[in-house]
Amino acid sequence: MNKKTGIIILLLLYCGVSFAQAPLLTDVPNRRATSLDGKWQYIIDPYETGFYDYRYKELSENNPAAYWNSDEPKNKTDLVEFGYNDKYSLSVPGDWNHQDRQFVYYEGTVWYKKSFDYKKRAKNDKVFLYFGAVNYRADVYLNGKKLGAHEGGFTPFDFEIPDNILKEKNNHLIVRVNNVRHKDDVPTLNTDWWNYGGITRSVLLIEEPQTYVQDFFIHLKKEKPGSIPSTKNAEVEGWIALNKIPENAESITVSIPELNFKKQFITTAQKTNINFTLPKIKLWSPENPKLYEVIISTKTDTLKDKIGFRTIEAYNKQILLNGKPVFLRGIAIHEEIPQDVRRAWSKEDAEYLLHQAKELNCNMVRLAHYPHDETMTRLADSLGMLVWSEIPVYWTIDFSSKDVYQKAETQLHEMITRDHNRASVIVWSVGNETPVSEARTNFMHSLINHAHSLDSTRMVSAALEVNYNSGKNINEIDDPLGQYVDLVSFNEYLGWYGGTPDKCRTTNWTTPYEKPLFISETGAGAKYGFHADSLTRFSEEYQAWYYKEQINMLRRMPNNWVGMSPWIMADFRSPKRNNPLYQEGWNRKGLYDDKGNKKKAFYILQNFYKDIQLHGKPQ
Ligand code: GCU
Repeated sequence: MNKKTGIIILLLLYCGVSFAQAPLLTDVPNRRATSLDGKWQYIIDPYETGFYDYRYKELSENNPAAYWNSDEPKNKTDLVEFGYNDKYSLSVPGDWNHQDRQFVYYEGTVWYKKSFDYKKRAKNDKVFLYFGAVNYRADVYLNGKKLGAHEGGFTPFDFEIPDNILKEKNNHLIVRVNNVRHKDDVPTLNTDWWNYGGITRSVLLIEEPQTYVQDFFIHLKKEKPGSIPSTKNAEVEGWIALNKIPENAESITVSIPELNFKKQFITTAQKTNINFTLPKIKLWSPENPKLYEVIISTKTDTLKDKIGFRTIEAYNKQILLNGKPVFLRGIAIHEEIPQDVRRAWSKEDAEYLLHQAKELNCNMVRLAHYPHDETMTRLADSLGMLVWSEIPVYWTIDFSSKDVYQKAETQLHEMITRDHNRASVIVWSVGNETPVSEARTNFMHSLINHAHSLDSTRMVSAALEVNYNSGKNINEIDDPLGQYVDLVSFNEYLGWYGGTPDKCRTTNWTTPYEKPLFISETGAGAKYGFHADSLTRFSEEYQAWYYKEQINMLRRMPNNWVGMSPWIMADFRSPKRNNPLYQEGWNRKGLYDDKGNKKKAFYILQNFYKDIQLHGKPQ
């Protein structure tokens, strides 16, 4: 940004002109943050009365009828037909659906209000308002002034609060949240998961000096493809971004106390490429998830993070982790705590979900079908759980729309920016089961290019389409998108959506792509506790038979098969699953049911993974 633009923006900010989002703050758990989590007051507003007048024209910013303005009548003759009151409160973070029966199926607008006092640490500091996620659209107002808006239900965003808006006492933060689905949203109208609405992740005030560390990305230098990274004189590279071009030359110091390492970089740029050598390091891996504290400091700011050094690549039709082939013993997970019928968001939730995966002998989780809370990827770093992270370009997105592409790319950008320092994340997925067309393949190819441009250190994939008619008993993954992904992934339900599990005995799989092949979904439904013969649908015995037949078939997979993430760890809520005996609004493909009970199939997959752990990939 040049000086002139900066002055114009400052002038506009001074006049209280609200702005769209500020560049995303990263490594937020390690910044100077004040939590606004807790009880927020709310108004349910299905007719958008707080946003439009009775002619359905958007209310002007200072219109007293607007729900972002004061709900206090100035005198007893005043007519005020809205208001916030403690008796109407919701917990933040948290979807609204599980907090009161009136919200279970609610799709519409809810206005949230939080009042708070805030005294800046230093007069000259900047203050940001940061949201971990809001599903689906948020319009944010502070003290009656609009700070901005955000679309996208699963990625963080933030706004800088102009000094002339923030008060030391009695700030009124109002957020209009709308989770109505639209054809041109990402995801679109049709999803096989519950449309949980609300401020679903934490809200923070973050204070930064005038010049601060906006973001940084450091990783092992990519050596020759297929090589084992050296742990002696390990070469590290990356970049550090300040929030602006420093007035004078800025000194940035990178230190890693445990390694007795410190190096100074002098810069006059906003973004500075860095590289350095570490005399001796331990690599991060699932078996040894070694993390180092990295400290980035400038004259006015210090930012720390826990970084794992490892390499990941698709090479010679295998996935190499630290230069050695790794087989992904995965499981797909929705961001949900089924016992409470709610979105997961906390560290305790992440511990519960990743513990279930560990119990299944997994070394990988597919976080479906959208970026999960940052607690999940940070915990995966410490537990040594590999992660597939995905944006909800799901099924029938409008691939012909440039606006929709921009929404998808923005969510991809936010996902990668938030987690690019997470060693556990090995795959960025740009979508799931999208119908093949030229527009779709171009749309997804552009997303793949964007992901690679942001991060050349990880694999990019998507759940591709399968050609079931390529030949007798041969199913081929020849989706044109396979040309552009690093990891050829596909979903198959042979024996659930296609006939019965005995079909697995005569079916084989192939792909024309000389790349690693990954089964991103396979699964069958069962109602926990329903027992019958194995031919009876929704019985635990049918699901167990499915896994047995699938596992026998997988022993015939081609040698570039590198793993799987069966669908799905636990039963989850879906408005599409309405069998009154076995589903009742739940997708029952879980290996755990919605109460945390293990079904018979759990033990079959658990043993299969144990066997792989002990003896390597099945032959
Ligand atoms: C699809 C889809 C999942 C869905 C699953 C199912 O593969 O990717 O989101 O839940 O099938 O039908 O259960």
